[in-house]
Amino acid sequence: MRHRASAAHVPTAAGAGIAITGVTKTFVSPGGVNVAALRGIDVHAAAGSVTALLGASGSGKSTLLHLLGGMDHPDEGSILVGETDVARLSRRDLVRYRRTVGFVFQHFALLPALTARDNVMLPLVPYRTSFDQRERAEQLLDSVGLGDRPDALPSQLSGGQRQRVAIARALIGGPRLLVADEPTGNLDSATGAEVVSLLLKLREERGVTVVVATHDEALAERCDQRVRIADGRRIGEPEHDAAP
Ligand SMILES: Nc1ncnc2c1ncn2[C@@H]1O[C@H](COP(=O)(O)OP(=O)(O)OP(=O)(O)O)[C@@H](O)[C@H]1O
Ligand SMILES: [Mg+2]
Repeated sequence: MRHRASAAHVPTAAGAGIAITGVTKTFVSPGGVNVAALRGIDVHAAAGSVTALLGASGSGKSTLLHLLGGMDHPDEGSILVGETDVARLSRRDLVRYRRTVGFVFQHFALLPALTARDNVMLPLVPYRTSFDQRERAEQLLDSVGLGDRPDALPSQLSGGQRQRVAIARALIGGPRLLVADEPTGNLDSATGAEVVSLLLKLREERGVTVVVATHDEALAERCDQRVRIADGRRIGEPEHDAAP
């Protein structure tokens, strides 16, 4: 993997601190049954830190990431990201807020017909920017170790390389927050470890705040703090390392 200092040339707003307080979310399933996905959860994360969300399947990790990323509203509670209470934003302001968040998913979600470069540029296509989007995409590919593969199609890349393209895409808007839902779930452990190293490197180089849902304890151990969730509630003592 090539790591060059070019990431420093891509400007990024400083990471946002996070304060999630008393958040609840209940879904009503088609049969009319209520599912309480989150039952009063509190999570705090320092600006520029990496937080792991751990918990069994169905414990509420993805729901919390969706709320944090402004993809949905909680029923109760507040979600401060920097100065913004995401829980109080109107639908229209949520759309604007989402542009300040980078999303990474388990299944990469790359468009198969587009090159790595075009996939990275995709989130910006509807917008005019003060910088050259193509050049920015190439710098980001370089900073995730794929500077020599801008023209590769997803089918020509390994799983780990595809995830690195997805991370570059998540960064193109200069997000203050990166939300990753099981980003190593489809990767073998060595490749997964490389992706985690990349997330930690990005935190170091850009100061972006990262929240990552995972089942992988080894991954979580490398993060700055671990938040354990069971049935929509926080369990155990806060576990964090020294401030980054
Ligand atoms: N849109 C929805 N409609 C109805 N129920 C939902 C919806 N989204 C999530 N749920 C329910 O909320 C609970 C929490 O789901 P969530 O996807 O947040 O869990 P998770 O911790 O991410 O699980 P996994 O590790 O399997 O990804 C589950 O019981 C799930 O079935
Ligand atoms: Mg999930």
